[in-house]
Amino acid sequence: MTAPAPALAGRLREIVGVDGVLTDPADCAPFLVDHLGRCRGRAVAVVQPRSLAHVSQLLGLCDSERVGVVPHGGNTSYCGGAIPDDSGRQLVLSLKHLNRIRSVDVTNYSLTAEAGCILSQVQQAADAAGCFFPLSLGSQGSCQIGGNLSTNAGGVNVLRYGMMRDLVLGLEVVLPGGRVLEGLSSLRKDNTGYDIKSLFLGAEGTLGVITAATVKLFPQIRARATALVALPEVRAAVTLLGQLRAASGDRISSFELISRPALELATRHIPGVSDPFTAAHPWYLLCELSSARAAEPLDEVLEEALGAALTRATVLDAALVRSERERAALWKLRESIPEAQRHEGASLKHDISLPVAVLADFVTRAASWIGANVPDGRLVAYGHVGDGNLHFNISQSAGSDRERFLGRADSVRCAVHELVHEFGGSFSAEHGIGRLKVGELERYASPVELALMRAVKRAFDPHGIMNPGKVLREQ
Ligand code: MLT
Ligand code: ZN
Repeated sequence: MTAPAPALAGRLREIVGVDGVLTDPADCAPFLVDHLGRCRGRAVAVVQPRSLAHVSQLLGLCDSERVGVVPHGGNTSYCGGAIPDDSGRQLVLSLKHLNRIRSVDVTNYSLTAEAGCILSQVQQAADAAGCFFPLSLGSQGSCQIGGNLSTNAGGVNVLRYGMMRDLVLGLEVVLPGGRVLEGLSSLRKDNTGYDIKSLFLGAEGTLGVITAATVKLFPQIRARATALVALPEVRAAVTLLGQLRAASGDRISSFELISRPALELATRHIPGVSDPFTAAHPWYLLCELSSARAAEPLDEVLEEALGAALTRATVLDAALVRSERERAALWKLRESIPEAQRHEGASLKHDISLPVAVLADFVTRAASWIGANVPDGRLVAYGHVGDGNLHFNISQSAGSDRERFLGRADSVRCAVHELVHEFGGSFSAEHGIGRLKVGELERYASPVELALMRAVKRAFDPHGIMNPGKVLREQ
């Protein structure tokens, strides 16, 4: 990539106006480091377009000048996907001003939102129209829908509704060079050749810039039953998943596993979070049934199924939620685990998925490897067990040396991912590749897959300006 032309800043200002181009180091700083402080970069400028036309002109200019463009949303990536490299030649493209809900179509159960909309804004717009948008993550108050689309985000409702990819009907995308793919279709059926939009979902901005999307809505949730369940072992979670799916007529929307150390971190570091049980248990499950029918007796269904599981000793104890306040408290316990881990010190994160049937065996093998090989770390596992997705994280033990602990990151990552591979799993379930897992993708994707990905990249972005070095190494 050649150096940007000296007059670049001026040409950027011609497109987006003086206010739309940040070059002052203090203004740019928040866009140049990820939220965990693990990835840092430099940029020629941070540009904040206000319209589709702006994005189109910017990608036209950057393509002709061969300037790398790093799309940036809510900056909640775990893989450094939205941070430029340290060359100082890339441009950060913040979508924050493209933040309009363009339309809600209640008849079609769909909504069109611009990329810079905060996820919670999309949920609220759906709710105000009497509908439900199911994507839900801990960072929903700050992550942006463009980032959710670009990373194919998951979260706590995937078991019922699928990942972001499953929720998309149409996309508007600006391609390198400035052409616009006007694909905001709201059709549910459209078998007209290759599904081009699908390529942008999970591409992490390496093929183009998503500027808007039409997503699916669902009937509003009118009945819920929620419980925190204590378990003797991971295997019990998998057994209970099958039992509960059958007993509830598949009404489970969330099925979240929490290990004892994860619960301890949340109760220790997050004010207002407490353990609802008097005894300590090795594993917990936050499970929620939900329905759009207000009259559905979900509490009864859950109580009966958990009662049967208690009798069979699959479950050790259960706390059923009796009010919205208690429900919010349990969700706070689950969703504050990542923040609690940050308070505890450094952590090594592994966002893995496995076939549900082998989850328990994997955890046994991997936990024993960690016990033997990471003396200064403590396994803090939690995650979306209903989807086979674990956040298999390791927190630095109290009093240990941070740098020495972090120095183990590569060898621990290799060992965990090798074991995941052996068990038929994935090293990236829902957080993407970004710049931190490019080597892992090269290691675990098949040569055919990699060749196809590189061919797609060349076809969409022949000059390699889109988020260079993310997902695939620069060629
Ligand atoms: C979560 O499920 O809480 C996040 O995806 C994982 C994390 O923040 O570690
Ligand atoms: Zn997660």
